Amino acid sequence: MTEIVVRNLFKDYGTSRVLEHVNATLPDHEFCVVLGPSGAGKTTFLRLLLSQEQPTRGEILIDGSPIDPEPQPDRGVVFQRYSVFPHRTVLQNVVMGVALRRAPILGRLFGGERKEVEARARELLAQVGLAEAVDKYPAQLSGGMQQRLAIAQALIMEPKVLLLDEPFGALDQSTRRSMHRLILDLWEANHMTIVMVTHDIQEAFTLGTRVLMIDRQRREEESPDVYGSTITHDVRLDPASKPELDRSEGESDDSMHDIFDKWVRRMGEAVISDTTDGSPASAAGEGVRRAMWSAA
Ligand SMILES: Nc1ncnc2c1ncn2[C@@H]1O[C@H](COP(=O)(O)OP(=O)(O)OP(=O)(O)O)[C@@H](O)[C@H]1O
Ligand SMILES: [Mg+2]
Repeated sequence: MTEIVVRNLFKDYGTSRVLEHVNATLPDHEFCVVLGPSGAGKTTFLRLLLSQEQPTRGEILIDGSPIDPEPQPDRGVVFQRYSVFPHRTVLQNVVMGVALRRAPILGRLFGGERKEVEARARELLAQVGLAEAVDKYPAQLSGGMQQRLAIAQALIMEPKVLLLDEPFGALDQSTRRSMHRLILDLWEANHMTIVMVTHDIQEAFTLGTRVLMIDRQRREEESPDVYGSTITHDVRLDPASKPELDRSEGESDDSMHDIFDKWVRRMGEAVISDTTDGSPASAAGEGVRRAMWSAA
């Protein structure tokens, strides 16, 4: 069980106030999505939950106790800039967090202990779809694969709380969709509490059991920094009763090609020509797709 209570939280940097009067109770196994304009303090809020920053006022409790003032492995984090080690393989990258915790000086494990941690790392890498990539180096991975590696790195620490800062922002739409399914599966399987920042409202409502909007409620024209952001909207959602947005759109399992074809069909009479290599395409959209990609 993990309950997070945020009580009257304030965060100032010098004379500028970023957050004020932030109050929220996140029950066990919440999937909380935080929305808000750029600069509203979303990342700052996550950094406070991680103890990378200290509140100016107020407190954060986990299961009734104030959170540790230092970042702890019970709170995993995946930022948009991945924290992978370039000179380690995918497998070593996942093993390393545990090795550094158990053997802080050498950062290495031996014998049975190493085998056990490696087996767990392989299992997690398989869960995030990187079973084939265990011996590759990060530079050999796509952005989506590096993102999944970062998630596996966080998960091997068995966090009670997983903090995600715009984790899917840089991914294309179909990779994003498969990451959504993955994160929902992992959230269920590992029974974590997730706090995730995004700019994407549809993503927020699709994934969340809770959607918080943070924004400035009050503004002083002369000095915009005197008031901070607070929670302006707090929505609870029952995942079992959500409309199946993706499936009703019929796109959830579609590849990028299928989504592209669908959009071409939706364009209807607006499609002036649709050919492949100069001849009419057999499948709808084929020609336009080729033309766009070869032009890119
Ligand atoms: N370490 C810091 N020192 C001083 N000011 C900071 C610091 N970190 C953040 N800020 C300020 O706090 C405000 C909120 O920043 P934050 O990164 O939390 O916003 P955000 O909501 O995550 O924005 P974005 O959507 O662009 O990522 C900004 O005005 C930023 O300049
Ligand atoms: Mg941010």
